[in-house]
Amino acid sequence: MAITTCIFDAYGTLFDVASAARRAAAEPGRTALAERWPQLAEHWRLKQLQYSWLRAVTGDYTDFWQVTQDGLDWALEATDLGGDPELRERLLALYWELQAYKEVPEMLAALKAAGLNNAILSNGSPDMLDGAVQSAGIAAHLDDVLSVADVGIFKPAAVVYDMVGKRFSCTKDEVLFVSSNGWDAGSAAGYGFTTAWVNRADDPVDRLPGRPHHILSDLTTLPELTRT
Ligand code: LAC
Repeated sequence: MAITTCIFDAYGTLFDVASAARRAAAEPGRTALAERWPQLAEHWRLKQLQYSWLRAVTGDYTDFWQVTQDGLDWALEATDLGGDPELRERLLALYWELQAYKEVPEMLAALKAAGLNNAILSNGSPDMLDGAVQSAGIAAHLDDVLSVADVGIFKPAAVVYDMVGKRFSCTKDEVLFVSSNGWDAGSAAGYGFTTAWVNRADDPVDRLPGRPHHILSDLTTLPELTRT
């Protein structure tokens, strides 16, 4: 079945989640952060994801903005950067205007020009996603932005992936699902989507029941996959 619909994870896939800590570290007077921002960014992302999975397992859903703040608070303490409310607020503010990876606008435009549906399917809450989409200037290339807030559980719960078929009235084999998160690409493959894993860090493949169908180093060549 030909691909009709491209579905993108948001954070880490279209938007560079490390850009908040990197940009804050470049600001004047942030000596400690300048030394430790890579560790902070890594801890922040990992805890944010762990909390989303744990809340999915236990049924304690809260929105992704809360999970993002909880992850940051753990990461600030772990890197001895806690106790600075101004830094915390600055990092959170930057999360609402994350930079998109540089190839994203052109890649999305190419998919639209080829007549495909494009949408985000993300753990992010609708207002966070709206902020990131607007600041990246990619709204015109997207048909929709789907948030797990509508089903009240985080990925990789199958009800989240079900949102795609409901929104676009398409079958699983018409969907190319794209994520930089190995666990998300693997889980979406297990669900039945064709998947592309954007493996910018050259990480090993996650040992999960589903394996990604395609592995890319960035998003530049993604439009070609929809033509094969
Ligand atoms: C998202 C996270 C998982 O956008 O990156 O859903």
